[in-house]
Amino acid sequence: MYRILLVCLGNICRSPLAEAVFHDVLARRGLASVLQVDSAAIGRSHLKEKPDRRAITCALAGGYRHIERIRSRQVKAQDFAQFDLILAMDESVLNALQRQCPPEFQHKLDLFLRFADHDGDLDVPDPYYGNVEGFTTVLRLCEGGVAAIMNKMMRQLELGRP
Ligand code: 4NP
Repeated sequence: MYRILLVCLGNICRSPLAEAVFHDVLARRGLASVLQVDSAAIGRSHLKEKPDRRAITCALAGGYRHIERIRSRQVKAQDFAQFDLILAMDESVLNALQRQCPPEFQHKLDLFLRFADHDGDLDVPDPYYGNVEGFTTVLRLCEGGVAAIMNKMMRQLELGRP
């Protein structure tokens, strides 16, 4: 089992959208028992809350029903040992993770869009204080990012690596 943790500030907008997209792709490809995805927050201001109403609406419109099962949780110390790959949705989140992460696990940290070899700005923009279009932008970035990461993972599996 290979484990990926997706992290944003509140775990109510960007990382739940990315988790919901990932969950859908893994289920469709029959890979849910091989690759496990979870999401978490740097902050604790939305603990145990459902994702933002706008994120839920946007995900459901795209058919990503897993969004309804997500509740915000904060990154915990064990996450750095238990997950194989920890992807931050923006640079400030990555910086926060780098400050918390023990030295032996720093290699597990990266930006979501950098790991996806995305062209252009590598921050998934925070949609919280914006309008509903911001959530559509985030969903599109998540879809592109997840597709690229899945292709990368599948290539690595074919080469016999995790
Ligand atoms: P997220 O969005 O990090 O994508 O979940 C945010 C959620 C909440 C806040 C900021 C960003 N906030 O300031 O409460």
